[in-house]
Amino acid sequence: MIYPKTIMLTTKEIRQKYLDFFKSKGHVVVPSASLVPDNDPTTLFTGSGMQPMVPYLLGQKHPLGNRIADSQKCFRSQDIDEVGDNRHTVFFEMLGNWSLGDYFKNEQIPWMWEFITRELNLDPKKLYFTCFKGNTDLGIPKDEESASLWQAQFAQIGMEAKIGENPEIDGMREGERIFYYDEKKNWWSRSGVPGNMPEGEPGGPDTEMFWDFEPQGSSASGGLHANSKYASQPCHVNCDCGRFMEIGNNVFMQYKKITAGFELLSQKNVDFGGGLERMAAAVKDNMDIFKIDLFDGMRQVLEKLSGHKYAQNENETYAFRVILDHLRAAMFLVGDGVFPSNKDQGYYVRRLIRRSVRFAHRLGIANNFTKDVVSAVIEEYKDAYPNLIEKKDFILEGISKEEEKFRKTLANGLKVFEEKTAGLTNGGEVSGEIAFDLYQSYGFPIELTEELATERSLAVDRPVFDKLKKEHQELSRAGGEQKFHGGLADHSEISTRYHTATHLLHAVLLKILGPHATQRGSNITQERMRFDFPHPQKMTPEEIKLAEDLVNAAIARDYPVSWAEMSFEEARSKGAIGLFEDRYQPIVKVYTIGDVNEKAVADPSSPTFSREVCGGPHVEHTGLVGKFKIVKEEAVSAGVRRIKAILE
Ligand code: ALA
Repeated sequence: MIYPKTIMLTTKEIRQKYLDFFKSKGHVVVPSASLVPDNDPTTLFTGSGMQPMVPYLLGQKHPLGNRIADSQKCFRSQDIDEVGDNRHTVFFEMLGNWSLGDYFKNEQIPWMWEFITRELNLDPKKLYFTCFKGNTDLGIPKDEESASLWQAQFAQIGMEAKIGENPEIDGMREGERIFYYDEKKNWWSRSGVPGNMPEGEPGGPDTEMFWDFEPQGSSASGGLHANSKYASQPCHVNCDCGRFMEIGNNVFMQYKKITAGFELLSQKNVDFGGGLERMAAAVKDNMDIFKIDLFDGMRQVLEKLSGHKYAQNENETYAFRVILDHLRAAMFLVGDGVFPSNKDQGYYVRRLIRRSVRFAHRLGIANNFTKDVVSAVIEEYKDAYPNLIEKKDFILEGISKEEEKFRKTLANGLKVFEEKTAGLTNGGEVSGEIAFDLYQSYGFPIELTEELATERSLAVDRPVFDKLKKEHQELSRAGGEQKFHGGLADHSEISTRYHTATHLLHAVLLKILGPHATQRGSNITQERMRFDFPHPQKMTPEEIKLAEDLVNAAIARDYPVSWAEMSFEEARSKGAIGLFEDRYQPIVKVYTIGDVNEKAVADPSSPTFSREVCGGPHVEHTGLVGKFKIVKEEAVSAGVRRIKAILE
């Protein structure tokens, strides 16, 4: 069979074809969930398509049925330092399809084959598959079923696909297209290999699909290593030389971790995840992901602004990739309500923007540029994510404000860095004091100082930096506690009522404005309460009314209020708000408004309304709070709002 090069599919078309294909197989297509997981305090970001599906994989009924497909926005902060090569990105879209206790291997494998060879028109001579070799200690059998299903697909088009049992040792021998690997490669769970899985976590063996960038696609051993660094090792699909790229992963999610090993889940699930950008790179048959059409607009803007062409020299190419990746990710994060800040998700947005500005310097871009690049990103994605149009101004504003702020200090900070390190020679060390000064006075994230140091073959005294940072945090906390205790010295009944109202309002703001609207400060007197929180614009009259109504509904439901002491981890796993890594304490006091055994949702129909770390005191049940009324909503400083409210 001949696989002619037809008109090249765009990334947009690939996304659409995938969703249409699974729709034709009885799936309901759902929109992408937010990059910030809803009510999942165990993780800061949605890092895989499967994340929002966990309850349904475990057996909860999905309201839309048992066949779901989507293209999910994902952010993997742990990859930030890998960005700059031809394949890593912190943001990507994962095409997903799920069988929630419905179809299994017999359907998934032929469908996938049909999709990649017929719809994407990928040449089977350049396709390879891996399967789980089994582990008797874990009681999980070898996945021979998947291997023979792939063999059958090849056979249908007259190709013999041999199986390689030990690719890491033998390399790839003539005719081998399917390979067995152990759980390090062919097992999937959110926490990785079986040994790392906490109890209750679902997981299972998987079968992965690979594309070969070698022009002729030959599986004979001695197949070329794309990178001579690997010349002494056998080349196989999972080696790091860059010749092969994983384009999709079919997970057969049928196990659950228990103390003694694994048990079968109540249902057999399929969890497929395929990198959209990687599939586009395979279709284009170009191993540089930043060359796919999706980046064309952004790349051209950057070329114009910098006067440099992409892929002309290594140093500049690296800078191009960092900026393209980081600003795209920042665009989606701000779009999902995460603003640059010094903690949690906001810290990553800040780091992405600041790094982009710094790498723009490397390309000779000295003026504000993020608006132009981010506009091009929005242009590319506006059809697939229509609400980006209405959020456009808000996103551009959020990113460019951070850029302006950082630009002001960047030039000064770089000067200070140069001055302070001028006397150091190769292999020298930037002291912890200098690194801390750059952090404290010039807003340099420590990673930026480390990067500058590495470029000059210097090290950074990280332990001293960490110590200084910790001391500084403790000092500010002590200041904060004094204020806090000062406020709490007043245990009168009225201030206790205001205190509980503050918890109700905090939960409500997070629900209606988004996860960024966390408490920045609070102050209570006998007459009123005040609550500060980050939010980029004035609340609308409807939002104010809704906040007021929800707090009053929680008061009317007369929830019990109780507290318990627990470990930081336990509080986190129970979804308590007001928990910050930088205020780490081994034991914290947690107040629950509602049923202590249920998840908190700031909705009066929920058995639990709020759960928050706090010293107290609070009223015993919300009925005692009184009638809550917001009297003012105003700006305190750029991006920070203040609500004043009274109890009547
Ligand atoms: N959940 C699987 C992955 O992320 C599909 O690779």
